[in-house]
Amino acid sequence: KELSLIGVPMDLGADRRGVDMGPSSIRCAGVEQRLEQLGFVVADEGDLVVRRAKHHSDVPESNLKYLYEIVRVNEELCEAVAGIAGRGRFPLVLGGDHSIAIGTLAGLRRHKTNVGVIWYDSHGDVNTAETSPSGNIHGMALAVAMGYGHPLLTGIGGDRPKVKPEHVVIIGARSLDPGERVFLKRLGVTVFTMHEVDRLGISAVTERAIDFVSKGTDGVHLSLDLDGVDPKDAPGVGTPVPAGITLRESLLAMELLADAGIVTSAEFVEVNPTLDIQNQTAKAAVELIASLMGEKIM
Ligand code: ARG
Ligand code: MN
Ligand code: MN
Ligand code: MN
Repeated sequence: KELSLIGVPMDLGADRRGVDMGPSSIRCAGVEQRLEQLGFVVADEGDLVVRRAKHHSDVPESNLKYLYEIVRVNEELCEAVAGIAGRGRFPLVLGGDHSIAIGTLAGLRRHKTNVGVIWYDSHGDVNTAETSPSGNIHGMALAVAMGYGHPLLTGIGGDRPKVKPEHVVIIGARSLDPGERVFLKRLGVTVFTMHEVDRLGISAVTERAIDFVSKGTDGVHLSLDLDGVDPKDAPGVGTPVPAGITLRESLLAMELLADAGIVTSAEFVEVNPTLDIQNQTAKAAVELIASLMGEKIM
């Protein structure tokens, strides 16, 4: 049971300061000690360096804010994650905004040809420059991983899709842009929106998601955006969406994933301590991580 932590203090993909302090706030909430109590040998690989951008947008008129620095950091993250996975350790990536999933999934692709992805999020993050209402690259990360978007983004870690649409499950969606709905339907991505979570319950949804991403895959990555959790339980996020999955339900989802024993890598993103109340969201992240990694109440 060996695990490597890597922090990515990225905020450029959200175009909002504060989420760069996510890795620090999750460390402050005691993630390393909690994992050690579970019997993991933890190596904290530290944080990547994200350069402060001078300009709002480095590619004028592209609707891709901070493209070049986001590409550079994700190339680095790709190498780091590939290295960790290559040494047979569990990669646990701490964000940072969700644009870092691009680098994480690119790195995993080095060792796995068919990685399954559970995208736990209130958003779909399947915009492209053409459909994005904001130009924020964190809202494009999943599309990029599937091979859609600017070539500098889809080319990170090699010019090939990092995940196949049939191996992706979204859980918790409740804010999709018009272009994202069209895109998800066109690609046939499995989406458990809040409608399904409410109708079926989180345990049935999680069981279905587990069945789905286990088929035909050689590993499963959990990409958990804290804004998937209800803002009452996780207020420290930049793009909160009400009426979400409670922390209790989310913990149950993590426990079911732990029992299934399928998850081979994970990332926890979008924690913004400047918008938080007493580091509550980072603490929630640590609880979720502990449950995912096998912590039991009894
Ligand atoms: N859909 C919106 C956009 O594209 C919000 C995306 C929020 N994404 C996130 N990872 N928090 O701008
Ligand atoms: Mn989100
Ligand atoms: Mn397949
Ligand atoms: Mn997201």
